[in-house]
Amino acid sequence: MERVALISGASRGIGAAIAERLSREGWQLSLGMRNPQRPLWADPERVHLAGYDAHAPREEEWVEGARKRFGRIDAVIASAGIVSKNTVIEADDAEMDDLFAINVKAPRRLIKAAWDDLAASGKGRVVVLGSLSGKRVKSRTSGLYSISKYASVALAQAVRHAGFDLGIRATAVCPGLVATDMGLSVTDRPAELLTDPRDIARIVAMLIDLPNEASVAEFTINCQLEESY
Ligand SMILES: NC(=O)c1ccc[n+]([C@@H]2O[C@H](COP(=O)([O-])OP(=O)(O)OC[C@H]3O[C@@H](n4cnc5c(N)ncnc54)[C@H](OP(=O)(O)O)[C@@H]3O)[C@@H](O)[C@H]2O)c1
Repeated sequence: MERVALISGASRGIGAAIAERLSREGWQLSLGMRNPQRPLWADPERVHLAGYDAHAPREEEWVEGARKRFGRIDAVIASAGIVSKNTVIEADDAEMDDLFAINVKAPRRLIKAAWDDLAASGKGRVVVLGSLSGKRVKSRTSGLYSISKYASVALAQAVRHAGFDLGIRATAVCPGLVATDMGLSVTDRPAELLTDPRDIARIVAMLIDLPNEASVAEFTINCQLEESY
């Protein structure tokens, strides 16, 4: 039976690259998007589209639609995310709430909605797109985003603990700068010097293919040299 993955943020950037990669590797997909549009490569028989706005707590409807369509869910990839360049001092509560709503609370709800299916799979997989900004605070303009991404990384760690005895394995994937709309909006470096989203997709495909006995809690990727990453 072909495995089924739910991917948020699949309209562009890292989520879109992961979706294309997993499709090529034989996964059936349910893609959550604010404006659902079938990617050109997608076979309608094997790709389900769901309307999904991370601001609206309707993850259960998405999961129900995927379950009806495919009868199983083996992986959840939470890639939808937003960034902010305001410092912790400039930001107001509303901006902080937005970062937490999209980067932390929505992925938790999605994982929770799919939890029984992931457990039923016996080898459920969860990937949360964290960030190197969830591992260190690099600059004044990344601090606010970092706070949310530390929480994303902790979310993946918490899911790993909650699901381990159920055969669920969770990984926080933590890239530095990736050549997507988001990555290019926070740096002047040219795209070719940033990590290619297709390489993040290769890594995610590898991670969710590992057996239960090869759990990877965190996976860091960088396009440049830093002291520890
Ligand atoms: N790019 C980087 O340098 C980098 C580095 C480390 C970690 N990350 C993380 O990787 C993940 C993907 O980033 P990316 O570079 O692919 O970003 P991106 O190119 O800006 O794409 C963001 C994705 O998130 C979706 N999204 C944003 N707000 C949403 C909402 N309210 N509801 C549903 N979907 C929403 C977008 O959908 P729409 O098309 O509808 O806007 C889009 O699919 C994020 O969690 C990000 O924090 C990125």
